[in-house]
Amino acid sequence: MKYDFDSIVERKHTHSTKWLKFSDPNIIPMWIADMDFACPKEITDPMRERVDQGIFGYTDTPDELTQILKDRIKLRSGWDIEEEWVVWVPGAVVALNLACKTALAPGEIVVTPSPIYAPFDDASENMARGMVKNFLIDNNGRMELDFDATEELLSKDTKMLFFCNPHNPGGTVFNKKEITTLVEICKRHNITICSDEIHCDLILQDDLEHFHLASLNEYAKQNSITILGPCKTFNLAGFPLAASIIPNKELREDFIQNTKGIVSHIDNLAFVASSAAYKYAGEWHKELIEYLQENKKILIEGLNKIDGLSLSGPEAGFLAWVDCRETGLDTPGDFFINHAGVGVYDGSWFGREGYIRLNFGCPRSVLEESIERIQKAFSQRN
Ligand SMILES: Cc1ncc(COP(=O)(O)O)c(C=O)c1O
Repeated sequence: MKYDFDSIVERKHTHSTKWLKFSDPNIIPMWIADMDFACPKEITDPMRERVDQGIFGYTDTPDELTQILKDRIKLRSGWDIEEEWVVWVPGAVVALNLACKTALAPGEIVVTPSPIYAPFDDASENMARGMVKNFLIDNNGRMELDFDATEELLSKDTKMLFFCNPHNPGGTVFNKKEITTLVEICKRHNITICSDEIHCDLILQDDLEHFHLASLNEYAKQNSITILGPCKTFNLAGFPLAASIIPNKELREDFIQNTKGIVSHIDNLAFVASSAAYKYAGEWHKELIEYLQENKKILIEGLNKIDGLSLSGPEAGFLAWVDCRETGLDTPGDFFINHAGVGVYDGSWFGREGYIRLNFGCPRSVLEESIERIQKAFSQRN
């Protein structure tokens, strides 16, 4: 490998949210979704150059970034977006909240998958909109949509559906057939779809590919908000930036209107880092996927040796959704933290008990140490 994913980079002194969470310094933090890999110099050199210039005044969104995104999406998936469809916002969660405010009037309802990355649930609450949960089914470790149950949830007040593909926390890469069925349901009920595709560039299985929901057909195009960006792929979560792709002009204008006076402009360095990542860090990205594939394999082997734990994914990303239901633990996350010293998320944060989510975007030695700790803790459990 040309790039070094094995080195351990000290992060505590950087106010890292991930590394400051646990007061016990012996706990390995594997909870929040950022990786412990340094960005390559293809990203940091342009940032350094920008910093050396020394002036950080108000900054316009560079058209170049939108052009780069457009070309990238076309090249990777064939989806031909137009530059004017793209609204940049400081982070995907901002876009989720804006989507709720824009597509739903007070009293209207969003259908939200469950389990789900908790800010999806928060968005409808933040915006004082209604929400119904759409429970995913665990099909041998693959979290899947129950289409009949989805349709039964819909009422005349349901106006939006949240979709997360690849899914967080399940790691499912929904295929074209599943997306088609979902869009058909939404079309029958005239529902807008907000599709969070922030993990779409991290597909881990060679036999799978990401399909952009909005590229399916005219209905999907005219009734969707797609959220994606470089932050997960290139480990840039500290520079919040996400593209909201909204082909429908009216929906887009309402969305933009809702940003006014509230949503801050985007960080100077976020643009520099993101443009550089998309332009120059392709090889790093390729090697990252290979490294994550191997980490995933090691984790699956290590955890499946433990009675009561079951892991088969994820199909994408660096977050493993581990089924712990057979352990009989009420809050398996607490056991991982307090007995193994591995700082995971309990599934309850995502709305599903009996699971944990473990971030394996870390150097191999750290992963191996954490697997050993988990194996030891379970072997000593009485
Ligand atoms: C599906 C999904 N959407 C949004 C986010 C957060 O994105 P941002 O930090 O850009 O708000 C995450 C972070 O883990 C995520 O997994």
